[in-house]
Amino acid sequence: MKTIKNEKSNIVALNTFNNKIFYTSTDVETRELGKDFACILKPTDIVFLNGDLGAGKTTFIQGVMSKFGIKGFVRSASFMLVSEFESETCNLYHLDLYRLDENNTFDLGIDEYLFGNGISLIEWSDRIIHYNIKKRWEINIDYTENGRKIKIKRYL
Ligand SMILES: Nc1ncnc2c1ncn2[C@@H]1O[C@H](COP(=O)(O)OP(=O)(O)O)[C@@H](O)[C@H]1O
Ligand SMILES: [Mg+2]
Repeated sequence: MKTIKNEKSNIVALNTFNNKIFYTSTDVETRELGKDFACILKPTDIVFLNGDLGAGKTTFIQGVMSKFGIKGFVRSASFMLVSEFESETCNLYHLDLYRLDENNTFDLGIDEYLFGNGISLIEWSDRIIHYNIKKRWEINIDYTENGRKIKIKRYL
């Protein structure tokens, strides 16, 4: 009985975010959305974040990280491609692939993050399109007149 209830509430939680559009007017709101979204993340999940420079991808990830109790996450240093964090429940990987082009991703060893046991949060995921990752969450952030439009979709 309990299991059924848990499954149901899990589906409700997923439906809160899947195929939904959110509007935020401040970075604080985007961070809060990231924090709420983090509740449905499980180990091995992969999250793609797309949107122009300054759209708010890292800001959203700050919210996710804070939900997992990670204090050290500020934003990616310009020279870092991957940052690794440990939470109580699992590892989290932040991959900022802005500086990659399609030709130099293969020898980076990012497979261990993508196909490991942690949660991967990936900015500029178009750089690894050739990995053909099917199962993922996709967060698309667009500028609007008053803030940001944040689209969330789950692919299975
Ligand atoms: N609604 C909003 N959501 C997210 N960031 C916002 C918003 N409004 C203003 N900002 C600002 O936009 C910038 C987003 O930066 P960042 O998250 O690093 O973007 P990205 O990682 O997509 O390049 C921050 O300076 C943030 O304060
Ligand atoms: Mg960023």
